[in-house]
Amino acid sequence: MERREVTFRIKRFNPKKDVRPYYQEYKLTVPRGMTILEALQFIKDEIDPTLAFRAFCRSAICGSCAIKVNGFPKLACKTQVFTELDKFKTSLLTLEPLDNMEVIRDLIVDWDGAFERMKELKPYLIPDPKVVPDTLDEETRVYPEELKKYDKFTDCILCTSCYSICTATQIDEGYGGPFQLARLYRFAVDKRDGLKEERAKIGYAYDMWNCVRCEKCADVCPKHVGPVDAIMRLRGISIDIGLKDNPGARHVLAFYKSLMESGLLNEVLLPLRAKGIKGVLENLPVGIKMILKGKAHSPIMKPISEHESLIKLMKAAMEVE
Ligand code: SF4
Ligand code: SF4
Ligand code: FES
Repeated sequence: MERREVTFRIKRFNPKKDVRPYYQEYKLTVPRGMTILEALQFIKDEIDPTLAFRAFCRSAICGSCAIKVNGFPKLACKTQVFTELDKFKTSLLTLEPLDNMEVIRDLIVDWDGAFERMKELKPYLIPDPKVVPDTLDEETRVYPEELKKYDKFTDCILCTSCYSICTATQIDEGYGGPFQLARLYRFAVDKRDGLKEERAKIGYAYDMWNCVRCEKCADVCPKHVGPVDAIMRLRGISIDIGLKDNPGARHVLAFYKSLMESGLLNEVLLPLRAKGIKGVLENLPVGIKMILKGKAHSPIMKPISEHESLIKLMKAAMEVE
């Protein structure tokens, strides 16, 4: 069996005795097929019993072993050492705790803040008495096409990888968080739920419009949940129920109006429609530069030749949603 010499550079920190974190290297001969978690367990059993990490199921189900491997969140139990060595063309792997959460010790982070935030968003079924019978003798059937609306968002294993890498979470303490908002959406489209679209108001209160659509949450999710998809859909629901008076919603509506009018993005009217006179004044220096360079177009735009087809496409896409 193929074996390789691998150096694991692990970020260590024990707040009870260390002034600051430091890196410690462990050299191992790793056989093909060994996971990062198995390597960590080997180091703990055979080299250094003080190394701390979290794991439970070893089957990519419980979400507890997420750490950073060469800078990217990964489930240690699902990630093979050789895969990462080949990907980075290296014999050195740096293992660190996830970001956006305090380190309890070594690779173990404190989840409390992330899960407290999730609880605030009420991510559980509040039964609608009109749909869910108040007796155990009857059942509420959910049909496949109804389940499809939220099925993939039920796959989340709460590993917090998305939360650890989320741009909005890093800059906005009031932000709901990627997996937390995805759970909120999951119930907003469940026919059994009593709050349903009213849940979009919770997302609104927890700054869902501050998601910058960087897609990092989707990139790192080991279960392909794609929280950003749920957040975009929750935003759509919030517009549908009339929560339109914010820059994000106005920007989306201005974009939509522009495409419906001409099939082109009207960059002159966009700031006015999205942010009003304030937006125009903010964008004035750029606008003047564009005029001077001959890049500004007239606010009155001629529709593109295939405009009717585009409108049909947009309407069809909205019906699918
Ligand atoms: S897309 Fe939104 S929720 Fe996802 S990581 Fe980026 S800012 Fe966070
Ligand atoms: S959405 Fe994906 S990355 Fe985020 S906590 Fe759930 S399983 Fe982990
Ligand atoms: S140990 Fe459970 S997901 Fe890795």
